[in-house]
Amino acid sequence: EKGTYPHYMLKEMYEQPGVVRKISQAYEDQKGELTLDVAICKALNEADRLYIIAAGTSYHAGLIGKQYIEKIAGIPVEVHISSEFGYNMPLLSEKPLFLFITQSGETADSRQVLVKVKALGHPTITLTNVAGSTLSREADYTLLLHAGPEIAVASTKAYTAQVAVLAIVAYVAAKEQGKTVDFDLKNELAIAANAIQTIMDSKEEMEQIAHEFLEVTRNAFFIGRNLDFYVSLEGALKVKEISYIQAEGFAGGELKHGTIALIEEGTPVFALATQQAVSLNIRGNVKEVVARGANPCIISMEGLAEVGDRFVLPKVHALLTPLVAVIPLQLISYYAALHRDCDVDKPRNLAKSVTVE
Ligand code: M6R
Repeated sequence: EKGTYPHYMLKEMYEQPGVVRKISQAYEDQKGELTLDVAICKALNEADRLYIIAAGTSYHAGLIGKQYIEKIAGIPVEVHISSEFGYNMPLLSEKPLFLFITQSGETADSRQVLVKVKALGHPTITLTNVAGSTLSREADYTLLLHAGPEIAVASTKAYTAQVAVLAIVAYVAAKEQGKTVDFDLKNELAIAANAIQTIMDSKEEMEQIAHEFLEVTRNAFFIGRNLDFYVSLEGALKVKEISYIQAEGFAGGELKHGTIALIEEGTPVFALATQQAVSLNIRGNVKEVVARGANPCIISMEGLAEVGDRFVLPKVHALLTPLVAVIPLQLISYYAALHRDCDVDKPRNLAKSVTVE
């Protein structure tokens, strides 16, 4: 039940700090160390490449998971949109391991891939919020999100849960392989959970931003580099699906290769600047769009903030920035939908689980 919240989406966004904390506990062993089932560790150790298969928001989480698993554990990863995989199957490695990311565990596009790769005899894991769902039952192994039921069509807490569990998968896989990991993920997740809470407490600020930037516009752009790029894709999807504003997420560097032609006087451009190594570059992209009349909203992070940034996120570990950078975008899309009188929890043309291919 949504209790005192006007919408499930708002309730679910508020649950995010608790979900991140719960995940940390759920993946702890008796000694308090992060862990995974022995069978899943074995499958990860035996694989020479991980294939992540997902759709929509789960695909966006998969893109982040790829970075985690490659950077922390050193296992090569490919991420594929499930609907494309069936007819555009890449050449597989010798020992592929498939990881299906699906909140509902019922997405038909993802299931058809599962059926296909199982028939080829490859091992499969489903990362899902729903124990007993179709993809969970049909895969060899299941990793649970522990996010609690997600009712709003727009996925919020399942996304943060997916990112958190993928970080744990990468971390445990690295340790299993005897790799040195120079940070304490449990501690960093706890810091991120507190940061999410702090951002949720600033929701009035996001309402104001939605009012200023999205109340009347017909389009909006989200840009970022590196991990911020993937979060931009997710921010744009949120805005599209619940407020019906045409929104696009772009890699900052790609703008000049075409998209910048769309920038007009007053076009809202949300720029994420949480990645230290590319902070100057993304700020350069902001200057480029401002020179063409864009209305920029820079969301940066403590330690990287500059005068004029519209919102500064609390500092978290460099790899966990997606957990916090997505929160203002979720809130901004929520308020944009409210201001435009849209049905926040049940947007037009959409279903919570997409069971047709
Ligand atoms: O249940 P799944 O994670 O497999 O669903 C995949 C997409 O349909 C889903 O993430 C969709 O994009 C959301 N409505 C986004 O908010």
